[in-house]
Amino acid sequence: MTTREAALRGLARQYGQDHVFQFWETLDRTGRDRLLTDLEQVDFPLMRRLAEHWVLAAPEPEHFETIRPVPVIPVIDPSRADAQTALAAGEEALRAGRVGLFLVAGGQGTRLGFEGPKGAYPIGPVSKKSFFAFHAEKIHNLQRRYECVLPWYIMVSDTNEAETRAFFEGNNYFDLRCEDIFFLKQRMVPCVDESGKFMLDQPDRLAMNPNGHGGAIPAMVENQVIANARGRGIDILSYFQVDNWAVKVADPCFIGYHILHRAEMSSKSHRKHQPREAVGVHCLCDGEYRVIEYSELDLYPQLLETDEQGHVVYYAGNPAIHVISVDFIERVYRDFEHFPWHRAHKQVPFIDQQGKRVEPEEPNAYKFETFIFDALRFTQHPPIALEIDPPGEYTPIKSFSGDNSVERAWAIMRDYWAQWLEAAGYRVPRDEAGRITIAIEISPAFALTREEFLEKPRGRSWPETGDIAIDADGNLIGSKPAN
Ligand code: UTP
Repeated sequence: MTTREAALRGLARQYGQDHVFQFWETLDRTGRDRLLTDLEQVDFPLMRRLAEHWVLAAPEPEHFETIRPVPVIPVIDPSRADAQTALAAGEEALRAGRVGLFLVAGGQGTRLGFEGPKGAYPIGPVSKKSFFAFHAEKIHNLQRRYECVLPWYIMVSDTNEAETRAFFEGNNYFDLRCEDIFFLKQRMVPCVDESGKFMLDQPDRLAMNPNGHGGAIPAMVENQVIANARGRGIDILSYFQVDNWAVKVADPCFIGYHILHRAEMSSKSHRKHQPREAVGVHCLCDGEYRVIEYSELDLYPQLLETDEQGHVVYYAGNPAIHVISVDFIERVYRDFEHFPWHRAHKQVPFIDQQGKRVEPEEPNAYKFETFIFDALRFTQHPPIALEIDPPGEYTPIKSFSGDNSVERAWAIMRDYWAQWLEAAGYRVPRDEAGRITIAIEISPAFALTREEFLEKPRGRSWPETGDIAIDADGNLIGSKPAN
């Protein structure tokens, strides 16, 4: 037995997980190496703590003496003085090269059920361009406008790293400089069954999942993102999620408010109209800045209150769009062992004792994850929350149909872009009920905002029938003429 095997067997035994070696005798050299490599990634004391707290005992909800709504900066009206000052500060930071982009794309994308990384999903309704391509086009636009380089740090995981890298390479890095794109890998954590035991995904593989978007904190420090950013003079990161098609990356106004408020971590926020909307809520719990998850709202009934006009009192929903200071990430990293973990009860396929693969029909296991918004509670300066209008900023995509879906996002963005076209004097075909009857898509490399769009289309003639997809140069692509 090698010392490596002996050490890992010893640890597994000490923590009651030595059943993971049950198929050892049947494994070849490569298989044995794979199993040991998985086990080397495991933080055994942490896993024991999580299983004892979340699986073997009934976890107690946190108790707060007071819960209050957070202060929110209202949706930007460009004529407001504070918005103008913020815009100027953000634009100055962009021009000075102080801003980098941090994209989290390491999730498993289970609900969308797409073969391949979620970022490679062909979200463009006409062009079939991927999420990655759309985000890259936003970067082209901003780099052109602010004459800056926006380095793009992309978090991936064991579940999609190789395919994501290949996708970027196959698409020539979307014509961005590959020296400005960095892939960094987050850690994986084992799933446990209902008695807290690790599970096998294969005879030689643990069942594991990425450690949640909160895993961005250690991933940024341990993969030298922070060092790289500092070396480039970057002190601010614009954080976004791959499945938010509409997200405004490196939004200058948002960055400006962050700078002017000397915030360490800032959030966008969207107004909840229904108490039970499936979204986390920003609030102050015993004075500490928190996001309470949607699944925990019933534990804190005041979060469901409405006022006399029927408006939700705790209305600051969390769309997972942040600006984070580089110094702050380093500080939270030093405290990461106090970072909270969350559990989810899920269906996790596994290999049973007879070596047969089981595909459960009911949740049979717990996955543990950390969430980036929990970093907010570690801030020493009050975070800001900037309210947004979701269309054009927030179209999260979790599945193909229903809420937070591809179909919903297509409809929202179609209506949003139709307003630009109509403001520019084009006729957008609608049925008798006023519903738009075509697909619409505008490349963010051509125009990121309505103002930019209105400056550009003069003299162009797009047809008034058929789908409208406008590419980076303002040309019409893939139009399907209406009958
Ligand atoms: P979600 O939590 O919605 O997960 O991630 P998901 O992977 O997209 O989809 P499901 O839940 O498996 O259906 C929100 C964002 O956070 C990233 C995702 O890639 C997505 O951009 N994420 C999530 C990570 O980068 N790592 C994780 O461990 C989890």
